[in-house]
Order: sequence, then C-alpha cells, then structure tokens
Amino acid sequence: MAGNTFGEQFRITTFGESHGRAVGVVMDGVRPGLPIDTSVIQKELDRRRPGQSHVTTARNETDTVEIVSGVFEGKTTGTPVCMIIWNKDQRPGAYDKMKTLFRPGHAGYTYLTKYGISDYRGGGRSSGRETASRVAAGAVAKSLLEQRGVQIIAYTLEAAGIRAKTIDYNAIETNPLRCPDPTAAAKMEEMILDAKAQGDSVGGIVEVVVKNPPVGLGDPVFDKLEADLAKALMSIGAVRGFEVGNGFGATKLRGSENNDPIFRDQSGRVRTRTNNAGGISGGISNGEDIVLRIAVKPTSSIAKEQETVTVDGEQATIKIEGRHDPCICPRVVPVAESMVALTLFDHLTRQELLHPDDSLAALRSSIDTIDQNILFLLAERQRIVLEVGQVKKREGKQIEDLRRESAILRRQLRLAKKLGLDMKLMERFLSVIFSLAKSVQKKIA
Ligand SMILES: Cc1cc2nc3c(=O)[nH]c(=O)nc-3n(C[C@H](O)[C@H](O)[C@H](O)COP(=O)(O)O)c2cc1C
Repeated sequence: MAGNTFGEQFRITTFGESHGRAVGVVMDGVRPGLPIDTSVIQKELDRRRPGQSHVTTARNETDTVEIVSGVFEGKTTGTPVCMIIWNKDQRPGAYDKMKTLFRPGHAGYTYLTKYGISDYRGGGRSSGRETASRVAAGAVAKSLLEQRGVQIIAYTLEAAGIRAKTIDYNAIETNPLRCPDPTAAAKMEEMILDAKAQGDSVGGIVEVVVKNPPVGLGDPVFDKLEADLAKALMSIGAVRGFEVGNGFGATKLRGSENNDPIFRDQSGRVRTRTNNAGGISGGISNGEDIVLRIAVKPTSSIAKEQETVTVDGEQATIKIEGRHDPCICPRVVPVAESMVALTLFDHLTRQELLHPDDSLAALRSSIDTIDQNILFLLAERQRIVLEVGQVKKREGKQIEDLRRESAILRRQLRLAKKLGLDMKLMERFLSVIFSLAKSVQKKIA
C-alpha cells in the first residue's frame, strides 16, 4: 500500500514490522561521493533504542544497523542506499491478547478495518519501532546538513505538565528525559514513575530548533517548508499537534506584537529582531532559527483496565501487558530530529537544482566525485580486461592485436575531438589504458 515513502528529490522508503524479521529503509536520490559513516548512524540509533532507562520501554534491542547497498569504501555510489536493523528481542506471544482485542488509542481497529488483515504483534507497522528506519536515514541527512553548518537540536520541553524553565543544550543528554532543564527533568521523571506505578502513562511537548538554516528552503504553495515539516513530524506515531514559531500563541497577539521587525546586521545580512515566525515566512526559510514544537500524547498501551471491543464486535475490557514507554517524549527526540533533517535535506537538494551551488568548495567536491568515478570505471575496465585475457588464453589467441588497437584509438580520438578534449593528451591517455590492459593480460597468459 502507498504511504511508506517520504521526500521528493531525497526520498526514503521504510519497511518492516515490530515483531517481523527486521525494519529498514531505502534512501533514493542520494548523490554519489557523499561520505557515510556507520558509527554516526549507530550513535543516533542508540539514542532512539529501547531499554535506555526506566522511563522508556524495557524491550532489549541493540538496533545494530547493517548497510546492504549503495555505499562503497565509505562513500555513496549514487545507487539506492539500503539499511537494515534486524529485530532480535521479539516476543510476539506477549501480544496474544491483541489478536482479538483492540487497544484503545492504538491502530489495531483502523488497520484491520482498512486492510482486512493486520500484523497485530506489537502493533506491527504502526509500532514506534518503525521509527528506527527513519532515524537511520535521518542520521545521514543530519550529518550532511552538519557538514554545511546546519545543526538540529530537539529536546523534551514539557512532560506530565512540567515545563523546562531553562534551556541548556549541554544538559539534554545528561538526563533520561532529554530535557534541557535538569531540575524540571527530575520532576518529570518523578511524575512519569508515579503514572507508571498506577499502570498509566503521560504525554508532553518536544521542541526542535534548527540553527543556521540556509535562506530559501521551501516551495510555495503546497510544499511550503512548514507544511512539509508538519507532515514529517505529524507522521510520527503518538504526535497529535504541530506548531511553528509562537504557533497558537500568535492568536493572542496584535500584529504590531507578532510581526518580527526586519533589520540589516553589521555583516550586511537581513535579520529579524524577534523570531515569532519560527524562521519561516511565506513558506520559505528566512535564515533565522527554525523553531518547531510537537504535542506527544500519553502512550496508549497502559496496564490500567479499559473498555474496548473484540475483533468480532463483542464488548470487553483490556489490560495491556508487554513492554511500553510510560512517556514517549525522550525517544521521540531523535526521531523528530531525523524527520526535520530529512525534510530540510530534501528541500536543500531541490533548492540546489534551482540555484546550483557554484562556491569553490562545491565545485571542487564535484571534480573529486568525477575523479572518483573515473577510478571506479577503470577498476571495472580492469575486471573485464582480465575476463577477456582468460577467454584469449582458453581460445589460444594472441594478447596483442595492433590493427584492432589502432582502429579503436582512431574512433575514440574522433569522439575526443567532438567533445572538445585535447587530442594529444587523449592519445597519451588512451595509450596508457591500452598498455595497462595488455600488461594485465600478459600476466595471466
Ligand atoms: C519512539 C516511539 C515509541 C513508541 N512506543 C510506544 C509504546 O511503547 N506503546 C504504545 O502503545 N505506543 C507507542 N508509540 C506510539 C504508537 O506508535 C502510536 O500511538 C500508534 O501507532 C497509534 O498512532 P497515533 O497515536 O499516531 O494515532 C511509540 C511511538 C514512537 C515514535
């Protein structure tokens, strides 16, 4: 069924179910020659992974990523990049109840009604586990954005009604809530454990800030940047609301208070004095920090008894066993960063098609990529030359065929002339390639 692909120029397709063999992602539209560091991807997956603390689920998954295609010697080849994360700690038996009972707040009823069949084990495709695939792809997008000086930071702003009062980015990874205010984090934790002890769960707000975004991302009218960011973030399970800048707060202000005054700073850059717009005007990034917030609902799977119906429509009650996050916010943090990174990198790629990057660094990087591709082609040529050598040996044919060689040389030089290349240099270049081939074949003759 549709709905598993996100992005336009830089696209991801995720696959897999919570208690199936694996979850994973295929990234398409990835330019060749981009560096991919598996340890960076693994670090992000470790942040999302279950079993990190007592405020998250106890499911024990290492979430080890395996890159199965599209990367050669640490760089993308321009072909689809496929990454797989094998499921290890499946306990489908823990979900036997869900075979016959719908979980209130979860996707069982709608999935079964829509498709007529549903993998109920751990929520199947609707499980939070699907987001591991997004984080693997998001880590790549995030690191490519970082190389251009763009930083994406998310954190739990509020949980169980407790709001962070201070924002210290350095404190985020120091507490299990991923809250930038350690004092608020301690109170949140207390409230979550209290809810958990009562067989219940809590919700919260995750804030995402993008530092140093380029000006010009977003394609009005239907692909306005905030529209695509809303779709990206609202597609995460348990996310029920989205705000950009001061969001719903804008409704309480006058125009004179809500407008962000525009000025030119000392370096000549156009800036705004305030940032109520959250870094986006008219659907296009204006260069100020992009500020987003999402509402995360309390986890629907709770141990408290609740009213429901069976798949046959009989009235029933349910108490949910299995391992669930009493508050999803800390695990949503890396997922939100990933979805924002994927959206921004897609828009950056679209923007570069509109205005190709002609900076010295970008031009040099294009030449590096071309040189690398020439080497890939030479390696492939050498492989085929070897095969030809083996055939010649088998059929008792001569290695050297000077008449054929000079005919090919003449033909290739005609093409070189058409392409405007230096004929003398190309003659030398082709002769070197021919000699290389002959020496390879002579070795096996
Ligand atoms: C990282 C992550 C972990 C999640 N863990 C749980 C969980 O342990 N139990 C649960 O009931 N829902 C969990 N969810 C939420 C469900 O996936 C979500 O509520 C469900 O798919 C229904 O979708 P909806 O809430 O968007 O309507 C998690 C979501 C994410 C993103």
